Amino acid sequence: MSAIESVLQERRVFAPSEQTVAGATVSGMDAYKALCAEAERDYEGFWARLARETLTWQKPFTKVLDESKAPFYTWFEDGELNASYNSLDRHVEAGNGERVAIVFEADDGTVTNVTYKDLLARVSRFANALKKRGVKKGDRVVIYMPMSVEGVVAMQACARIGATHSVVFGGFSSKSLNERMVDVGAVALITADEQMRGGKALPLKNIADEALAMGGCEAVHSVIVYKRTGGKVAWHEGRDHWMHEISAAESDTCAPVPVGAEHPLFILYTSGSTGKPKGVQHSTGGYLLWAAQTMKWTFDHKPNDVFWCTADIGWITGHSYIAYGPLTIGATQVVFEGVPTYPNAGRFWDMIAKHKVTVFYTAPTAIRSLIKMAEADAKVHPKSYDLSSLRILGTVGEPINPEAWVWYYENVGGKRCPIVDTWWQTETGGHMITPLPGATPLVPGSCTLPLPGIMAAIVDETGQDVPNGQGGILVVKRPWPSMIRNVWGQPERYKSGYFPEELGGTLYLAGDGSVRDKDTGYFTIMGRIDDVLNVSGHRLGTMEIESALVANPLVAEAAVVGRPDDTTGEAVVAFVVLKATRPQGDEAVKLANDLRAWVGKEIGPIAKPKDIRFGENLPKTRSGKIMRRLLRSLAKGEAITQDVSTLENPAILDQLGESL
Ligand code: WT7
Repeated sequence: MSAIESVLQERRVFAPSEQTVAGATVSGMDAYKALCAEAERDYEGFWARLARETLTWQKPFTKVLDESKAPFYTWFEDGELNASYNSLDRHVEAGNGERVAIVFEADDGTVTNVTYKDLLARVSRFANALKKRGVKKGDRVVIYMPMSVEGVVAMQACARIGATHSVVFGGFSSKSLNERMVDVGAVALITADEQMRGGKALPLKNIADEALAMGGCEAVHSVIVYKRTGGKVAWHEGRDHWMHEISAAESDTCAPVPVGAEHPLFILYTSGSTGKPKGVQHSTGGYLLWAAQTMKWTFDHKPNDVFWCTADIGWITGHSYIAYGPLTIGATQVVFEGVPTYPNAGRFWDMIAKHKVTVFYTAPTAIRSLIKMAEADAKVHPKSYDLSSLRILGTVGEPINPEAWVWYYENVGGKRCPIVDTWWQTETGGHMITPLPGATPLVPGSCTLPLPGIMAAIVDETGQDVPNGQGGILVVKRPWPSMIRNVWGQPERYKSGYFPEELGGTLYLAGDGSVRDKDTGYFTIMGRIDDVLNVSGHRLGTMEIESALVANPLVAEAAVVGRPDDTTGEAVVAFVVLKATRPQGDEAVKLANDLRAWVGKEIGPIAKPKDIRFGENLPKTRSGKIMRRLLRSLAKGEAITQDVSTLENPAILDQLGESL
């Protein structure tokens, strides 16, 4: 197999301002390089230093990294700590109990502030209530809740008593919830009566009841319900309890249970590209270290910052950058219940202005859809809001194409805020490759360089390093503290999936294609390896063709997939959403020709889409990733047999299925 070819060239560079560099935690490239050198020189010493400085240990560790059972690595194994103690108690003990931990904004705009002292009391009461229901250290608790203070309380309360939580995103179906409860062996479920999003109530408790009734999860002895709306729910006496009632009956102190550093803090399911969902098992010590450390490095966190990560607690981003990272370092953060388009597409900008957010972290898919709406309506354009509080912007989840990057930089960040394009995964626990705001010169579309201590590299199919400028497979060469520990109950799947023998068995395989720039060594992610197209023997990543399409001023979003082709092996099929309304008839044919020529000019004739389809939207997963498997079926003209129940607007499948 030949290497993945990189065909796009991005030459714009945005260096951080002198002011940003001067005040930064990692100040300037020399400081960054010094940290990298420290990790190179004494890998274990480097991580041990960070772990001692960043976390409070009940029992100090004497061992750092143990590689004897590789790839089942352990970190700080004989140390003991409690994640909830590190997130709450220690800030209160240090005199910061009155500091606001969470500024919660509900769907309807109602704002509630929760201090560290309040949060500690709420977590303690609920932890006591869980204990009273028999939940103990090592038990698994499934959390199926809306974005809420109560969701964070539920996670922290589990951590406090050493129970392992598994959060299931509130948009998943009863079947998905059931599968996860069965696989993880849950003893309790924490949910809500309903969830409010965009002015609509969704019946979480009913879905949870359905999931429980599907069987296989008879071990669930308690169902605890957060009353969000007061909507009508079915009630199973003895099994079901209101969260506020059982909490009110408890004391507001609860001793945190120290656990070993390797104790599973949580298991989070990720769909994977095929088959049964994988329960990604994370540790307590190593995980918490990196969630906290990356808050300080990547987001350059300062005491006066107001941090806002827009992810849901159902995803890893919401674990690391809502439930644990910000709290572990004592930050003030915004937690938002609703959606970016309600009551209108200016909601994010309005909230940034209202709460004087300084560090804003969101997904490229959200940015792209807000660009489309802002360009159509000046009222919801970020320029219509006072965003002067912002100092750092971030993105995560997929490659951000350079055009969207520049728009975000200019219109949201006012050309003064560095953008940290953070590459990482559910499995990595925290950021891996990302700019540091006060050090790294930025190149739109590139996640730039690995964090100190992260040994990322690009290799070929045999595990050999490829030279800069040549695309290949992204790997991590040494274990790091916040890495996945296991696939819950499937150690073989962990081993073969992440440390494949073909690559030598010691490299962590991320599953992404990537290339490093010839001059700077900067990484650019080219999409998932499984999505690579092979056109006339050229292996092309999806990201570059998509970026080229979106660089056209008419295009809002694009996704490309391959379709078997007699002459070229595979042909490029592009699904395109325009900023204006969806074109039809002759207009569509003309636009498709223009776009084909455009890609030919931007990248080269091999990347020209053979077929272009226009839709009002693209099919996305609940976490905003494009469902390329669905698009591949559409490109081949096949009937859709996959589960499409999570699609916002299934009618777009008909649009995207239409050839011109
Ligand atoms: C995959 C991981 C990490 C939290 C959210 C997603 C893609 C993620 C970037 C980025 C390019 C990115 C990769 C990765 N991805 N961040 N900054 N640039 N691609 O977590 O669901 O585990 O997905 O998301 O393909 O492997 P996840």
